[in-house]
Amino acid sequence: MPNLSIVGLQWGDEGKGKIVDHLAGGFEAVSRFNGGSNAGHTVVIGEEKHTFHLLPSGALKGKELLIGAGVALDPSVLAAELGVLPDVRARLMVDGRCTVVSPLDKELDAVIEGMRGDFAIGTTMQGIGPAYAARALRLSPRVIDLFEGFDFAAMARFYEKLSVDASALLGWAEESEAILDGIVGNVGGRVVQINEMGGSVLFEGAQGTLLDLVHGSYPNVTSTNTNAAYIPAALGIPLSAAGASLGVAKCYTTREGAGPFPTEIKDASAEGIRTAGNEFASTGKPMRVGWLDLVALKYAIDLSGIKEIAVSKVDVLSQAHDFKACTAYRWQGSETTDFSSALGHLGSVEPVYESPFSLRGANFEAALPKEGRKLVDYLERKLNVRVRLVSYGEDRSQTVEL
Ligand code: IMP
Ligand code: MG
Repeated sequence: MPNLSIVGLQWGDEGKGKIVDHLAGGFEAVSRFNGGSNAGHTVVIGEEKHTFHLLPSGALKGKELLIGAGVALDPSVLAAELGVLPDVRARLMVDGRCTVVSPLDKELDAVIEGMRGDFAIGTTMQGIGPAYAARALRLSPRVIDLFEGFDFAAMARFYEKLSVDASALLGWAEESEAILDGIVGNVGGRVVQINEMGGSVLFEGAQGTLLDLVHGSYPNVTSTNTNAAYIPAALGIPLSAAGASLGVAKCYTTREGAGPFPTEIKDASAEGIRTAGNEFASTGKPMRVGWLDLVALKYAIDLSGIKEIAVSKVDVLSQAHDFKACTAYRWQGSETTDFSSALGHLGSVEPVYESPFSLRGANFEAALPKEGRKLVDYLERKLNVRVRLVSYGEDRSQTVEL
């Protein structure tokens, strides 16, 4: 079996963690490749609920866990997650080339967000943007730099220029070295080795395609690439090892941070979906809710060359909320289905909707009901993809394979 990646097709929170956990069984290892602890991937097994920020969601399937070089790694978050699941350490490898996130980056996130005023990004304040920025400036340590020869003095001077107190930096670096000691390696090399031995690896994307630094709704995006084409570059594996990609999309849309959101629901019905779908960020902040946006979804599908998708949270729209899909954007008198052509004025397009059926009252337990079949057929036709999985609840068991 070839390697496979799972990527989000919207603005994150599509339910990737659950899908990764569901599919992990067939793979030797699960690997993160982008983002950092700004992600929150939830896996629910009966009464147990685990939210992973850094550990790959394959953790609960006993798989080998890899954190690739493209990840911004916060050692304190890793320590906390390993504290909850200590047995995982023995099967975890962190790439030595990962960018390290320090407490200074979290402070800088707040400083920069404060400076933006009305144009705040709504960052998760995990220090991810500043850490990658410092990496591009050649000022941040990689994981291997925690062990030897790094110029922490230059790094400290940089942050202090930006009014961030760097006096605790050396103490933090020592603690971080201890957290990472014994689990550092070459993740890209390990992926290739697993493949050579006949095994395969599942790559777990963080955030969603519309939050991609280059291709998303800039500047309201995260600070890495989130599309599947980034995987080989981020992990350090050949292009040919990237494998196919399975996209994950909710049957409606949510957005955690600020920025344009064409299909956002501005009236009271947003509250119904938010409550039914438990659309709150891990910080408790209510998420913005909107209807399915096929224009944005098609763009995300095309960017990553997606042929198969998983559709999540269909149960939410069966609880008395109708199904609505945006099929085009109207702007200054003309209509388009090309998301890229609207990137400059995404905040002022008017969505064109259709409501071809309703999921109201559909019962997804055990098998796909007729309303679910309508949704699957509709998405396959509109998006030219195959729907491989339908997720109808947060529990691991609530998944239909097609
Ligand atoms: P940052 O990546 O924390 O800097 O946040 C930048 C933008 O990406 C904000 O709008 C965040 O809400 C959003 N974001 C970052 N990570 C996630 C995620 O995993 N799910 C949803 N939104 C995210
Ligand atoms: Mg999340």
